[in-house]
Amino acid sequence: PVERPAEGVRVVITAGPTREPLDPVRYLSNHSSGKMGFALAAAAAALGARVQLISGPVALPTPAGVERFDVESAQEMHDAAQRLAGECDLFIGCAAVADFRAETPAEHKLKKREGEDTLTLRLVKNPDIIAAIAARADRPYVVGFAAETRDLATYARDKLERKRLDMVVANDVSRAGLGFGADDNAALLLWREGDTTGQVELPPQPKIALAEAVIRQALAQLAD
Ligand code: C5P
Repeated sequence: PVERPAEGVRVVITAGPTREPLDPVRYLSNHSSGKMGFALAAAAAALGARVQLISGPVALPTPAGVERFDVESAQEMHDAAQRLAGECDLFIGCAAVADFRAETPAEHKLKKREGEDTLTLRLVKNPDIIAAIAARADRPYVVGFAAETRDLATYARDKLERKRLDMVVANDVSRAGLGFGADDNAALLLWREGDTTGQVELPPQPKIALAEAVIRQALAQLAD
């Protein structure tokens, strides 16, 4: 018999980058491939969960059994997350959300101007999607990601507190062959356990295996 420990659990996951328009043909974005978020969605669905995946623009097929919602900007991702989070047990924010967007995207294509060698863009802060979910009265169990290049545990613990998360998956993006765009990843998992924090180190492994370990750990905490 197939083991389905996530049967009956409703999961919402954000994945991939966001795109913030500057004008009709240009945008601000980042190098997130969406692989980790899609691997989490695939793993949760394979374990029996009902999975809704909110994805920024990525070049990945929808995992089997997953319901997908495509968005572009952080504001669209925020709106979709708020709409879906009310009816889920577990929310995982894996998206690399752009921190800022153009205050007023140009209506027409921006033009180079004779004699002007600089261009100033005024950016405004995007909503913090996961912090907004964690601030809800009907909050689900909230898992966030922390991509750091140093002091992994310190920053991860800080993120747990500041965004009021239940669990943080921290990875060191400076390690060669791991993280952004790669197929493998390693992570330090931290979660709240009463007044203390539990933690486990997950060694470098394919993102799909790491994703399953993360989902299993979150399920174990959810059940407590
Ligand atoms: O603040 P920082 O970007 O380092 O935090 C990363 C975590 O917060 C990830 O879980 C990411 O998906 C989430 N996040 C978000 N909305 C933002 C920025 C980050 O949900 N605007």
